[in-house]
Amino acid sequence: METRRLSGRNEEEIRLAASILRRGGLVAFPTETVYGLGADATNPEAVRAIFAAKGRPSDNPLIVHVADLEALGEAAEPTETALELARRFWPGPLTLVLPRKAAVADEVTAGLETVGVRMPDHPVARALLRATGRPVAAPSANRSGRPSPTTAEDVLADLDGRIDAVLDGGPCRIGVESTVVDLTGSPPLVLRVGGLAVEELRRWLPGLEIDRAILRQLGRDGSPAAGRDAETEAGSFRPRAPGMKYRHYAPRVPLYLVRGEEARVRETTAELIRRLRTGGGRVAVIAPRESMGYYDADFRLDLGPRADPSAWATRLFRALREAERTGAAAIVAEAPPAEGLGLAVAERLSRAASRIIDC
Ligand code: TXA
Ligand code: MG
Repeated sequence: METRRLSGRNEEEIRLAASILRRGGLVAFPTETVYGLGADATNPEAVRAIFAAKGRPSDNPLIVHVADLEALGEAAEPTETALELARRFWPGPLTLVLPRKAAVADEVTAGLETVGVRMPDHPVARALLRATGRPVAAPSANRSGRPSPTTAEDVLADLDGRIDAVLDGGPCRIGVESTVVDLTGSPPLVLRVGGLAVEELRRWLPGLEIDRAILRQLGRDGSPAAGRDAETEAGSFRPRAPGMKYRHYAPRVPLYLVRGEEARVRETTAELIRRLRTGGGRVAVIAPRESMGYYDADFRLDLGPRADPSAWATRLFRALREAERTGAAAIVAEAPPAEGLGLAVAERLSRAASRIIDC
């Protein structure tokens, strides 16, 4: 199929995108986090087409996107807490897992009795949802396992010819996916760290905890982590969000992630780059601006100032895709301090890594 390029600046093209969705087609669209691949959440066939286009395992549920609180009520049973969080943080990078309603296709929830819902904060996404007039199921618009797309070009690099249209709204502001919070159990649980900082959420939900599988991924659950292999680790602890168990965001060449205290990270990263280059291959490094001068790498991808984790988030997925395009034989990345949005960046890098070096 030919994938149409539509402009999010043109109202008529947004209406065209909405009519494609209503007819059961697939449209990629911008949100403040990453681009989503949308389909009518009430149409089972359309939802199945998302899984086929992405090559996504069918046991991994999709997030439903809504334009307003009325649409939330069509997809899910919101609790008091849910409505309060929605009032505080929507539209925004927060997905709430709630008891589902029957109007949502079974394919969306992958057979679960719960559904993840969010109201995105992007003018094009909101205009599209309003024009569609139905809840829209949308995972990130990448081939399964690839870094999430933050521009229309990234979407096309993965899905050109496999979807009906992409609505171009320019680069995404936040750059990492939404924070997913399960409100169906006690205590409320973060299933995926993301674009809304956990510290911010805890001001309204003091009892909020983080799924232990995430802390383990980040090397923060007290387990010995030095030099462990991310690939063999991944299977040993079952995360509560089905999608979190998969190796994710992986570039096509080996990615080495160096984590720890700033000075030691620099020393270890510099030494690792030297060793890899001695082996003959070219090396790309992904690191904050202040570190770049320390590294004798073939390609440098600057994530912005060390003290600004939101800049790291905005650039992260782009940097992973660009590092791969350089043709380097290996990528070496520095992990940010795991605070604020740095937590989401560190988690994405940990899952993208073929090897993690804790120092
Ligand atoms: O920012 C975002 O959330 C983006 C944009 C497009 O909105 N969407 C996104 O969707 O990242 P996706 O499908 O790539 O990731 C959804 C995550 C997966 O880890 C999935 O397993 C989890 O949310 N999830 C969805 N519904 C769930 C449910 N009912 N229970 C537990 N986890 C759920
Ligand atoms: Mg995804």
